Formats: sequence, C-alpha cells, structure tokens
Amino acid sequence: MDKLLIEGGRRLEGSIAVSGAKNAALPILAAGLLTSDPLMVSNVPKLHDVATTLKLLAGMGVRSSQEGDCVTIDASTINAPHAPYDLVRTMRASILVLGPLLARFGEARVSLPGGCAIGQRPVDQHIKGLQAMGAQIGIEHGDVVAKSSRLRGARIITDMVTVTGTENLMMAATLAQGESIIENAAREPEVVDLANALIAMGARIEGAGSDRISIQGVERLHGASHRVMPDRIEAGTFLCAVAAAGGRLRLTSVTPSTMDATLEKLREAGAQIETGPDWIDLMMNARPKAINLRTAPFPGFATDMQAQMMAMNTVAEGAGVITETIFENRFMHVLEMQRLGADITIEGNTAIVRGVPTLSGASVMATDLRASAGLVIAGLVADGQTVVDRIYHLDRGYESMEAKLSGVGACIRRAS
Ligand code: UD1
Repeated sequence: MDKLLIEGGRRLEGSIAVSGAKNAALPILAAGLLTSDPLMVSNVPKLHDVATTLKLLAGMGVRSSQEGDCVTIDASTINAPHAPYDLVRTMRASILVLGPLLARFGEARVSLPGGCAIGQRPVDQHIKGLQAMGAQIGIEHGDVVAKSSRLRGARIITDMVTVTGTENLMMAATLAQGESIIENAAREPEVVDLANALIAMGARIEGAGSDRISIQGVERLHGASHRVMPDRIEAGTFLCAVAAAGGRLRLTSVTPSTMDATLEKLREAGAQIETGPDWIDLMMNARPKAINLRTAPFPGFATDMQAQMMAMNTVAEGAGVITETIFENRFMHVLEMQRLGADITIEGNTAIVRGVPTLSGASVMATDLRASAGLVIAGLVADGQTVVDRIYHLDRGYESMEAKLSGVGACIRRAS
C-alpha cells in the first residue's frame, strides 16, 4: 500500500494547474448511458474514481476510449444494466448509473451502497424520486432493483439537499414523458456542469444552479462533446495548503466564481487573494488567523473543504469553531491531527480548534478522501517527517497531488 512521506515546514511558492472536477466528471460519464451515440468528455481527471466508473460502464457492455484527458463513451449496446457490489462499495457515486439506466433501458440493478467512513449516506431520496416518476423499486439480495416502462414526469421535493440525488433524478427526467420539477434541488456547480452536458445532448433543462430545476422529457438524447469544469475542491485544497504553510501560489485553469465561500474564509484567515476569470493568486506571509465555519449545501461552505480548513486552523493564531452539518461522522481526521500535536476538542458535530505554533511530524492514517487531504496539509506544516498511510483514498480524488505539491516546493514523495 502506498504512503506519502512529507518533510514539513517549507514555504510553498509557484503555480499549479487545476484538474477537471471529479464530482462533475463522474455524473457526466454516467450520463453517457442516456444515449446510443458517442459522448466525448474532455478535461477528465486521472483518478481512481474515474477508472472505477469506466470499469462499471465496461461491465455493462459500454465501450470507452481514452486519449489524454479526453474520454469517449459509447453506450450503443448494453448487455447487463448492473452495478455490482465490488465496485459500488469502493465508490458510492456508482449510484449515479441508476437514473440513466432506468430511463433508457427500463431496468437497473445497482448494489445498495453500504455505510461509509463519513456516515450513513442513504439513497432513499434517489429511490423516492424515481418512484414518483413511475418506477417500481425493491431491494433484492442487497441490490436496488428498479423497473419501469417509460418514466413519466413528476414534481419531486427532496427531503434534504442531495447532490447525487438531484443529478440522478435530473438525468432520469431527461427521457421521461412530460415535465419533471425537482424542488429543493442541489445548487452545486457540478449539478450545473452536468445539466450543461445534458443540454448539449439535447435535453431540455431549466433552472440548474437554483433550487428548482425543470426538465421537459424528450424521446431521445444524442451524442455531444463537453469539457468538465475545474475542480473547486482540489483548487481549495492547494489554497489551504499555502495559507497554512505560508508562501505564494498561482492557480490556473480554475473558476473562482464557484469558490466564493472558500475564498472568503481564506481572506478572513489573512490570505491576500486576487482572482481573474480563470486564475487565483494567493499570498500568505504571516501565521493564519483561526476561522469559524459551518458546512452547508452550496453556496455555503463545502463539507468537502472542512478537513483542509481544519488543518489550517490547527496552526492558526487563536481558536476556531468548525461545525459539520452535512455528514454525521466527518471528523475522522481529528484523532490523526491530534497525533501531530493539534489541539482539537469535539462536541457533537462541532470541533473547537485551538491553534498551536507548530505541529510535529508523525505517522498518520488516511480514512477518507478529504480527511487525507487535511492530513497532507497538516504534514506540510509539521516539523520533521509525517507519513500519511493508506493514500489510496487520496488517489480516488486528487490527480498527482504529490507532483503538484513538489512543483511548488513541498518536500513530499510517494513510497510503496
Ligand atoms: C456529494 C459529493 C460529495 C460531497 C457531498 C455533499 C459527488 C460524487 N459526491 O455526495 O463529495 O461531500 O455531495 O456536498 O458528487 N442523504 C439522504 N438520503 C439520500 C441522499 C442523501 O439522507 O437519498 C443525506 C446524506 O446522508 C447527507 C446529505 O443528505 O447527510 C447530503 O448528501 P448528498 O448531497 O447526497 O451527498 P452525495 O451526493 O453522496
């Protein structure tokens, strides 16, 4: 199993090009199931989760080819509309094939994702929405088994804001008969990116980016090409790293307008930030000031940035209060950060982080994707060597993280 060895305490300086967004690429690749024509997707990041998605599609009989960052999906023939447990358990986003399979083929069998490190994460809203569109859905031998004749448009109000739930229902609705309305829809930029890809395929969607999305079903979708949006979480992770370690960073291939909540918090921490249409400059010459934050659906502060901001808070001046409202068990990184000398107290879904002047390097274990990113940042500011073990979590969602960080002066390398 690979690990990362980090010698902390270095100032970071240079430029990093941000990759395509994992959380946009995954649903867009799943959307390839909605048409028998080829779908060309560019700016696809090289990640384990993308490889898992392509494997999942291949298992169904979908052909795909890859050239550089461009992936072409050909779902003209499908022989098994199934997502098996061995893939779903490694990637919960596999549930994103449920809506497209059902809409185009009238049947789907997707293994029910179990619990995961950051909480229960049920898929009841996906199921409830598809049922409202006329699907019969049951659980058999641990699989969600769905059947339907042509889905029909419906008005769906989700109980809570769900990102992949909104995406699944939006994809299903593109081929349904009549109009569907999704109320309480997720407003995340990745939902908008998926909607844009679907619109390029001939879907009729309005309101993506608001909490009310309307979809007029069409008979069929056609092939298209689409460029995946930049990864705002990867971008935010590198900004946090430099805000914590000190230095100067230019991010390129990024969309600052999708990152307001993160940029605001970094400014509060004392970072000087300038933005252009597709770049961000961050300069941090002092110790960061502790910030308070509360995670919330977009445009609120992203839960996927919580661990990285906490890492910055561990070495900040003062104390910061971090409240996690999206997932019930997303403080797995706290115990590991404490191993590095961080002063953190947890009370329910709140962590109180009292900044210490410096952390001290140690061996830590990654537990999920963003927790791992938080630990890497902590390692970059810790004295001596930090070893981050189990970085397969990191490889799920960050493309060549150690190469990108080395490029800006970090002392970080991968070891088997
Ligand atoms: C997506 C992102 C993930 C991010 C999360 C929240 C992808 C591939 N993943 O995950 O990186 O951390 O959004 O921004 O885009 N819930 C239910 N029932 C449902 C669906 C959700 O109770 O049917 C709950 C979840 O347990 C959680 C909350 O709703 O408490 C939000 O989850 P959701 O937005 O669905 O997360 P994902 O789409 O799985």
